[in-house]
Amino acid sequence: MRITIGGRRSIAASVLMILAASSASLECGPAREPRPEAQRRWVDPDLSPDARAELALGAMTLDEKIALVHGGFGMPFNGKPKPDGAIGSAGYVAGIPRLGIPALQESDAGLGVANPVNVRPGDEATALPSGLAIAASFDPALAERGGAMIGAEARAKGFNVLLAGGANIARDPRNGRNFEYAAEDPLLTGMMVGAAVRGVQSNDIISTIKHYVLNAQETGRTVLSANIDEAAAREADLLAFQIAIEQGQPHAVMCGYNRVNGIYNCENKFLLGRVLKGDWGYPGFVMSDWGALHSTEAAALAGLDHESGEELDTQVFFGAPLRQAVETGRVPRSRLDDMARRILRAMFASRIIDRPPASGGFIDYHAHARVAQAIAEQGLVLLRNENALLPLAKGLRRILVLGSHADRGVLSGGGSSQVIPVGGIAVPGLGPERFPGPTVYVPSSPLDAIAAEAGGAQVDYIDGSDIAAAQRRAGDADAVIIFAHQWMAEMLDRPDLSLPDDQDRLIGAVARVNPHTVVVLETGGPVRMPWLADTPAVIAAWYPGARGGEAIARILFGGVNPSGRLPITFPRDEAQLPRPKIPGDDRAAIGDADPYRSFAPFDVNYVEGADVGYKWFDKRGEPPLYPFGHGLSYTAFALSRLTATAAGSVVTVRLDVTNAGERAGIDTPQIYLRRPDDASFPIRLVAFARVPLAPGETRQVTLAIDPRVLARFDTSANGWHIAPGRFTLHAGANARDLLLSTEVTLAEAWLKP
Ligand code: BGC
Repeated sequence: MRITIGGRRSIAASVLMILAASSASLECGPAREPRPEAQRRWVDPDLSPDARAELALGAMTLDEKIALVHGGFGMPFNGKPKPDGAIGSAGYVAGIPRLGIPALQESDAGLGVANPVNVRPGDEATALPSGLAIAASFDPALAERGGAMIGAEARAKGFNVLLAGGANIARDPRNGRNFEYAAEDPLLTGMMVGAAVRGVQSNDIISTIKHYVLNAQETGRTVLSANIDEAAAREADLLAFQIAIEQGQPHAVMCGYNRVNGIYNCENKFLLGRVLKGDWGYPGFVMSDWGALHSTEAAALAGLDHESGEELDTQVFFGAPLRQAVETGRVPRSRLDDMARRILRAMFASRIIDRPPASGGFIDYHAHARVAQAIAEQGLVLLRNENALLPLAKGLRRILVLGSHADRGVLSGGGSSQVIPVGGIAVPGLGPERFPGPTVYVPSSPLDAIAAEAGGAQVDYIDGSDIAAAQRRAGDADAVIIFAHQWMAEMLDRPDLSLPDDQDRLIGAVARVNPHTVVVLETGGPVRMPWLADTPAVIAAWYPGARGGEAIARILFGGVNPSGRLPITFPRDEAQLPRPKIPGDDRAAIGDADPYRSFAPFDVNYVEGADVGYKWFDKRGEPPLYPFGHGLSYTAFALSRLTATAAGSVVTVRLDVTNAGERAGIDTPQIYLRRPDDASFPIRLVAFARVPLAPGETRQVTLAIDPRVLARFDTSANGWHIAPGRFTLHAGANARDLLLSTEVTLAEAWLKP
């Protein structure tokens, strides 16, 4: 519908008229009473979000603009009560009722609608599997489904902003937040996170993407400087965000805690002004992470649009100090207008104004649990399966299930993304008492699910605390399924890659007495496996979400043919990593002291540059424990007839994928690139597909390659440069099993940044 004033006046003319009566006059005087509805031209959904934002901005006073560009917790915090009107969540920004601008109700939601503080009836939410599990599906459509699901729950709970979209590449397998992220590879990260954001925003709400950028470890995250050269950042961390933003079009970007090359992310002119808003033309708004802001002018002038979680900053930088800076001209009025305009634009573009969410909506938790289960079933990775131990044979008499509260539930990761799952916390009372605790088990009992699948076998559970007793019981069982846990959380990196709580000894002891031992890893990422030689079968179940127990059981017994592939390299040990020890203050790694202030700044030098994960291992000739892209199936696949053609800088790859086994299954052929004439060019994942195949079936797959992954970033020209010459394309089962290869020759090309 298009509202016309005075019969014939054009929209453009109306916009101009309202602009003429705009900011200057209104800003200084008191807020006028709302004008008649017909004059609130920004309510017209037929206008573009930009035009509507401009119109609404024109009606705002200086105080209203300032109020829009900062906000705090939406829940009680440090003695401060919950703000009036807030639902009770991570963030709240009051609306402007006289203009019909709603409040921003912000909830964390990377892996489900988080509700870490306000546990109350009805506050529960569906827990998605971890980000690594979702990415292990190599299936953007599945990630989008997951995002759509959590977005729908958020909407029904009345939230209009989800703090979702963790797009940091996993530079360090010990990073406490890898479970919130997708992968070590920028293409996979960008495609998966972008799809998840698209899903969230399909509910007409705002999603962030975060934590921009190079927030790659938790130890000292608020003080460290991530040091890296620009080209490397462009080809890795920034590329992941760039692709995710293109794919998902998030209306907000959250800048992270850390510094990059000495400058805090949220006041980093290069990252915010030049790259994000300049080179990428990003039209949304940038909000700070909670406690990540350290200045007024520097941040405002660099491109930060909104201060969030202001109670955690040393002062409310975008409150009175920003007002003063604007009044004295240190921050131009036009910059404040740009900040407010971007936020308003996001509100119009997302449709939270036209179609506001309301709390108390119906949530079909059963349907949502099925989405979580589907993701787990496609994201669990079968790492090892000697002598085809899995799927477990029908007709076993005695199965022993061991460890990690497998009688009650499955593990999840801690911190701001924590979901209080539907059905409540399965194992109450586990520490830590303070944030990022508690450790939450999701009520999906692997034991019950295994018993249901086991066709009448006797299935017993013991907790494994007594290793000798576990060994005795294991000796009598036809098969043993050991669950291993590694709780990871925001603010806490793991000091190393070993399983905690003496689990390596338990697994080793049990595997030695029972050759039919299956290890199910519930971890935040890669772990060492000193017991591997004695253990015929290993599944990486990550944090498997609301129906993780069922998903694991279906894979164990063959109801589901595993199809996940590793989105992150599993090293043999820490010595293989670019930084054998996590840099920084050990107090941070163990959660001591005030994480926001009390550490001295330090540097993390990303010596690996863009060669993260499998690229680093490849360059160094280091064989990992399990390579990126690895994952087994209960059937066998074959790749053949790989060809590549080039049209300009667009390379198209074709190959045949065959299911050579007896069961239906899903293969994930991966295309890797090398440059035979340039040893410094890293191996790169340039395309992937997910191909469901019936037994005996062959399908041809056609994949177009994003030219940026064929290029290097040239900082002096500020663009992507494809150096002319030969490109070898491999079709692989993973980053090391490069089964086929072909070549294309490309002419030199330049692409915009
Ligand atoms: C986290 C963010 C989160 C925010 C609000 C911060 O500690 O780094 O990811 O969105 O808190 O809860």
